[in-house]
Amino acid sequence: MKLKPAAELAADPSTLDPIETASRDEIEALQLSRMRWSLQHAYNNVPHYQTAFEKNGVSPDDLKQLSDLAKFPFTAKNVLRENYPFGMFAVPREQIIRIHASSGTTGKPTVVGYTQNDLNMWADCVARSMRASGARKGDIVHISYGYGLFTGGLGAHYGAERLGCTIIPVSGGMTARQLQLIQDFKPRVIMVTPSYLLNILDEMATQGVAPEDTSLEIGIFGAEPWTNEMRQQIEQRGSLHAVDIYGLSEVIGPGVANECIETKDGLHVWEDHFYPEVIDPLTGEVLPDGEIGELVFTSLTKEAFPIVRYRTRDLTRLMPGTARSMRRMEKVTGRSDDMLIIKGVNLFPTQIEEILVKIPEVSPHYQLELYKDGNLDALKVHCELAPKAGDDAADNARRKLAQQVKDNFGISVEPVIHEAGAVARSEGKAKRVIDSR
Ligand code: DLL
Repeated sequence: MKLKPAAELAADPSTLDPIETASRDEIEALQLSRMRWSLQHAYNNVPHYQTAFEKNGVSPDDLKQLSDLAKFPFTAKNVLRENYPFGMFAVPREQIIRIHASSGTTGKPTVVGYTQNDLNMWADCVARSMRASGARKGDIVHISYGYGLFTGGLGAHYGAERLGCTIIPVSGGMTARQLQLIQDFKPRVIMVTPSYLLNILDEMATQGVAPEDTSLEIGIFGAEPWTNEMRQQIEQRGSLHAVDIYGLSEVIGPGVANECIETKDGLHVWEDHFYPEVIDPLTGEVLPDGEIGELVFTSLTKEAFPIVRYRTRDLTRLMPGTARSMRRMEKVTGRSDDMLIIKGVNLFPTQIEEILVKIPEVSPHYQLELYKDGNLDALKVHCELAPKAGDDAADNARRKLAQQVKDNFGISVEPVIHEAGAVARSEGKAKRVIDSR
């Protein structure tokens, strides 16, 4: 099917939640009353928040206006680890009807819990996100996010159910079977990490299936950073609209923020439930909208696992609303954890991605390898030849990649061009950096 103009796929305004088009004054009044409740709830029921607020000399009554939130202490990931597994829950365990956890790279997982009301709110937020992405009641939705402790699969699932879709709960993996089901069941929408979608597109190429001949019209992609350049690649190669969904387990899961298909200009934060701030990661100072820094969230309605000023480590900036009145966050293309320092220059993996996906000789699968060159960190860029690449494609790709990284960032990297299929694939979140130091 040919890509339809995005404007034709935009949600019917009569199907939106009233708050999606409310005035800023209405949104902020709702936020203030909900924030008061949430801070009080956290303080009354979670020993950590009681101690942390008292240490900072603040009490929930000190919140007179939204900007007073800056007086309250941040919550970092280590707090969640220290209270493993259930120490941050604000309701009796019997009221918690779901647990999710994110594995993390080291140590114990971060555990989160949900009451029935939390699950309802989450399903509403994902349904709202899907609607913004152009999905609607009656659509067939293929879900390839992993089901299990990861919030992706079940989060997408209950949102799609709330929207009234026919769900195909495939989860990740078994790529040939994914394609078989896409061909047989004819979904209009696919929800998957962008890196795994690339594997599905490769499988189509292997089997001689043309993406424009499939039923897919919309992909709702998230759980990992991906660039606008990658979006262009996916839309052209995959012949479907690529829309960004953002979220994290600690805040709820997928559906904290989402793009609108008609604008694709950043992700509207569902601010009636998750209050965003952007801070200077070094000083902790709140930055004005428009400035780039670390994204911080305070939950406004969550019962089981309220979270106050949670430091996401994701870097972005806040911008005014466009297609909806809630503020947008710029596409997250880096986490402070992922920043590499190569020969003194700060670099995010996505900055290499932006360059790589525009080089026609290579496919968009890549992995970065950190190694030691004397005392300094150095970088190998592993990527692979595009299918049907010509004889001198590898040499050309190596030269272009090295040159463009040098021109853009002033550093030398070592491109390693493999045969098609040689770069490690993931079934969920891609692992972009390997550390061989
Ligand atoms: O990845 C939730 C999710 C599932 C979001 C499916 C979207 C789709 P966690 O495993 O807790 O939760 O990982 C959260 O993943 O802090 C970001 O660093 C990254 N992330 C999530 N969505 C995006 C996105 C899920 N759209 C962490 N763009 C977050 C960039 C993203 N990074």
